[in-house]
Parts: sequence; C-alpha cells; structure tokens
Amino acid sequence: NLYEMPKNEPILGYLPGSKEKKELKEKLKELENKVIEIPAIIGGKEIKTGNTKDIFMPHDLTHKIATVHMLGEEEVKMAIESAMNAKKIWDKYTWQDRVSIFRRAAELLSTTWRSTLNAATMMCQSKNVFQAEIDSACELIDFFNFNSYYLTQLYKDQPISPKGIWNRVEYRPLEGFVFAVTPFNFSSIGGNLPTAPAIMGNTVLWKPARTQLYSAYFTMKLLIEAGVPEGVINFLPVSGSIVGEVVLKHPDLAGIHFTGSTGTFQYMWRTVGENISNYKAYPRIVGETGGKDFMVVHKSAEKNEVLTALIRGSFEYQGQKCSALSRAYIPESMWNEIKDELIEKTDNLKMGNPEDFTNFINAVIDKASFDKINSYIKHAKDSSDAEIIAGGKSDDTKGYFIRPTIIKTTNPHFKTMEEEIFGPVLTIYVYSDEKYEETLELCDKTSIYGLTGAVFAKDRNAILLANEKLVNAAGNFYINDKPTGAVVGQQPFGGARASGTNDKAGSAMNLLRWTSMRSVKENF
Ligand code: ALA
Repeated sequence: NLYEMPKNEPILGYLPGSKEKKELKEKLKELENKVIEIPAIIGGKEIKTGNTKDIFMPHDLTHKIATVHMLGEEEVKMAIESAMNAKKIWDKYTWQDRVSIFRRAAELLSTTWRSTLNAATMMCQSKNVFQAEIDSACELIDFFNFNSYYLTQLYKDQPISPKGIWNRVEYRPLEGFVFAVTPFNFSSIGGNLPTAPAIMGNTVLWKPARTQLYSAYFTMKLLIEAGVPEGVINFLPVSGSIVGEVVLKHPDLAGIHFTGSTGTFQYMWRTVGENISNYKAYPRIVGETGGKDFMVVHKSAEKNEVLTALIRGSFEYQGQKCSALSRAYIPESMWNEIKDELIEKTDNLKMGNPEDFTNFINAVIDKASFDKINSYIKHAKDSSDAEIIAGGKSDDTKGYFIRPTIIKTTNPHFKTMEEEIFGPVLTIYVYSDEKYEETLELCDKTSIYGLTGAVFAKDRNAILLANEKLVNAAGNFYINDKPTGAVVGQQPFGGARASGTNDKAGSAMNLLRWTSMRSVKENF
C-alpha cells in the first residue's frame, strides 16, 4: 500500500557462515580483481572522454580499482541540454509511475544489488561491513521507500473547497534542472540527493565527489536498471572548477541539492547570489554542510552508556560522518571513573582493511584528509594546554591509517574543540560537576555549527536544562544516545547555523523544496 508508512530495511548481520557474508566476500573478490572503466552517463549514453583519472583504495594505495573519464565544459553543457530535453518525457510520467521506479530501485538494492553496492562502498570509501550495510544498503533503500511514501502524503493534502468552488494545489516540478552534489562519506546520500528531486518530477545533473565515484557509478547503474529514463539523472565525473562556471550560472539552474563542505556551499550560494537576475526562477538551495558535534555529560549519566557513545560516536567510520562526535564535556567525577577504560578501549580498537570483517577502523579517505587530520594531532602535541591520551599515531605506507585519537584539553576553546576535523579525533574538556549549566552555555557558544549533539543524564531536570540551552545547537539532538546514526523515517536528518539549510533529508519537507506549487481555483 503506497499510503502506508514503510518499514525500515532490516540490517543483515554478516555472521560467519551466513549467506550474505558469503555473497559479499565473493563480490569483493570479483571487484577487487578487476579495474573497471567509469564513463560519464549523459542522456543515457556512456561518454568516454579519454581524459582519465585512476582510483585506488584508501587502505591499499597501490591497488587500482577503476579509471574514470573526466568531463570538460562541453560535455557538461551537453548534460544540461540532455536534462532539459528529458524534462519533456519525465513530465508525462504520473507520480505513480515515478514512485514505481524508485520502489523498484529499493527492491533491487535489497536483493540483487546489495552485495555490489556494499562491496563498492567498502572498497572505495574504506568502510567496514557494518558501516557499509547501514549506509549503502539500509539507508539508501529507506530513502527510496520513504521518499515514495512522503510524496503520497504531500499529494494527498488538498485545500478546502467551499460550495460552488473547486480549489486544488498541483505539485509542479521546478522550471529547470537540479544540480546534485554528493560527498564521499555516504553512498546513501549519494543516492538520495539526485533521486529526491527526481521523484518530484525534476531532471538532475549529479556530480559525486571524486572519492565516491566508484560506488556512485554502481548506484547509477542500479537506477538505470530500475527504470530511470535517459537524461533524468545524468552522472558527471567532473571537477568542481568546471561546473562552477557552467552549471551554477546557467539560466535553467532551478535547484542545488548539496552535501559537503561549508566553504563550497557558501561559494555556490554566493555565485547564485551574484547571478540572481539571470535565472528563470530563483534557484532552490538546499545544503547540509559541516559539524562540530558534541556530547555533554551530566554527573547523573550512566557510565557504560557514556563510554559506548564516546567510542562509537567518535570513531565509527574513522569519524568521517558529518554527525560524528568530536567534542565532549565530561564532569570531573565521571571522568575519574571512565578515563582508564576509555583509553584502554580506544587503544584496543582493531584497525586494518575492510576485507577483514573484524576490523573496526579502516583508512581515512585520501591524502588531503590524512594530512589535515594529522596537522590537528600535531597541533595538540605541540600545545601546552592539551595532551594526547590515546592514539596520536598514523601511517600511510600502505593506506591512510590514523589511530583513533583522544585529546584532553584544559582550554574549552582549544582549536580542536572548535574546528571541524572530519577524522578519528575526539577532544575532551573536563568540567567541575557543579558547573553543568555554564557548560551547556559554553557548548552552545563554542561552535558556528548546529548539526548533531547529545546529552547524557538520568536526572530529568538536567535533560530539560540541556534541551533549553542547546535548542539551536543541533538539528539532530540525542538524549542518552550517541549523535550519529540517524535512521530514515525515524530521525529526519539535518542541521542549521553553518551546518546547512536544515531541510531534513528523508522528509516531506525536503521533497517540498523540489516542487513549485500551483494553486488552482475553479468556479463551478
Ligand atoms: N545520517 C548520518 C548520521 O546520522 C549522517 O550519522
């Protein structure tokens, strides 16, 4: 039933001897033994420019898995033309026709495509099996199914019509094309950003991050198999500098669906602003950007819950989730109780290649990230008001490996308490137990971001106070849980302040940004 809330895709366990483990291992072997060629896909056609770049695995730097054909300005112009042409066909699809394609994509991903997408995500983004499964399988399936459902809910909602009048609203697609720009860290975001505008009837140019192209290409193939018509989603391996000029200033640009860095988002918005009188309609700008996600612990919190959240929140997927915990405020009494266990558990996290399913930590994404994260670790080593109490070591001889690192500082404004690092680095500030309220205020003021955050307390008044003081500090706020792992259909995801426009991914509100409503009044 299209009008019924879907169920979340169950997470498979990949236990020894399981069918899914066997399949995934075989797929990893198959894909790792070949170098695939990744073309652009424009208007349904594969475009090979011959201007190629190689893709290697972040955890195995000599192991090439693909060559990608990079596009130039001419091909990007072609893609715009193709998206504009495809609108004519896509316009003729009813919403039921569109929904059926994305529900088919969910079905295919849940069955025949699951191992391919998971293997690709493990290989190109260096994710362990659990992180791949909750991302490239479950979350992406959920995006397809829940967006289909939210669409039905929007379309159901019609205005009142007094006697003799029929009032109705229509959900028109935007007048132009949508530009989707996706980050390396989630294959599911890769799949959601082009398809959410498409399900609302728009045609799309999709530019995945260079470091996501490998898994994104398989997502594109899945969408084609599911029946997305030619030109509705155009897959563009292209550098940012080329699209900046051609796409952002184009009069038919109708929307931007972006996840990535705050700097790039601001550049895009500025470019649109500078060209604002050139567009047919004001482009919709939807973005999810950086974070400096926090955890404030109250003295009444449960020690083991805090320990688990600190480790999982900060170090799962090497801290490369926009939602990852990166600063924690811990009361002195609790700190004395958990310190030794936290350090021991962190130092014992097993690190290595994703092909070994027992590794918790894999590599960070690329050289630029590796260097940036290390520069923060070095800064902490060199500072008198901070000390490294776990990790702090890295090694890029085989892959970009960084040990999960904990910095303890006496300065609540220490650089790593304020700036986004996007890696496995947690900074801890210990406060005196009676200064809980001041610490909440400090936490709120410390960062320009407002993405995710958590409070840990058993005392209800402490929770109420955190709710009040941190009301704008996080678009996704967790009480007694780590600040990562939002589930589609359960916790719509997004942040405000410098973290984005907060048009929650996986919600009707996000879909509304991709439609231009028309009110029609008819007198009988
Ligand atoms: N939606 C992802 C999470 O919540 C980013 O961790």
